[in-house]
Amino acid sequence: MHIRALRKQDIPAALKILKENYPHTPLYVRRARHELGAMFEPGVVIPHYIVAIESKKLIGFAGICPSWMDYGFSTLFWVNVDPRFQGAGIGTKMIKLLMRQAKKHKMKYILLTTTRPAFYRHLGFRTLMPTSKTYKLMIGTV
Ligand SMILES: CC(C)(COP(=O)(O)OP(=O)(O)OC[C@H]1O[C@@H](n2cnc3c(N)ncnc32)[C@H](O)[C@@H]1OP(=O)(O)O)[C@@H](O)C(=O)NCCC(=O)NCCS
Repeated sequence: MHIRALRKQDIPAALKILKENYPHTPLYVRRARHELGAMFEPGVVIPHYIVAIESKKLIGFAGICPSWMDYGFSTLFWVNVDPRFQGAGIGTKMIKLLMRQAKKHKMKYILLTTTRPAFYRHLGFRTLMPTSKTYKLMIGTV
């Protein structure tokens, strides 16, 4: 398995994973199509996505974007691993890489919302508050 930057032609494979992880939320796929595509569009603040590749197949992806709120903050989103490869350390490797890259870009903190706080706790994030019945706002220091 290796991790590299998202390429435009990877987007359909990434959306296929998203469909499998969120079969009842087609809105996510529509939004993600635009938000993954934004890496290849001109813009002042551009998101950065990475993908995990195993035997030439895309098996995971994750995104990060600097925030205008404060130059030391990034937000993390669309963290998804192919269900057939979950629990094998791929999500952990992708987040650790994004944290290292964020540090190089002088980031200090990463904010995210998630339904899986235990997964992020093990990466050093802590919960700030619930934002809905199922989602929690978390912060991590890079
Ligand atoms: C959540 C997700 C990204 C984790 O990626 P992964 O590759 O399956 O996770 P890893 O194998 O790196 O797991 C790392 C550790 O976190 C734990 N973990 C993984 N998912 C967890 C979960 N949902 N709840 C609690 N712990 C979890 C694992 O047990 C493992 O612990 P260990 O190192 O002590 O064995 C992945 O399962 C996924 O895509 N889920 C569906 C989509 C989703 O929920 N995305 C996140 C929304 S913000």
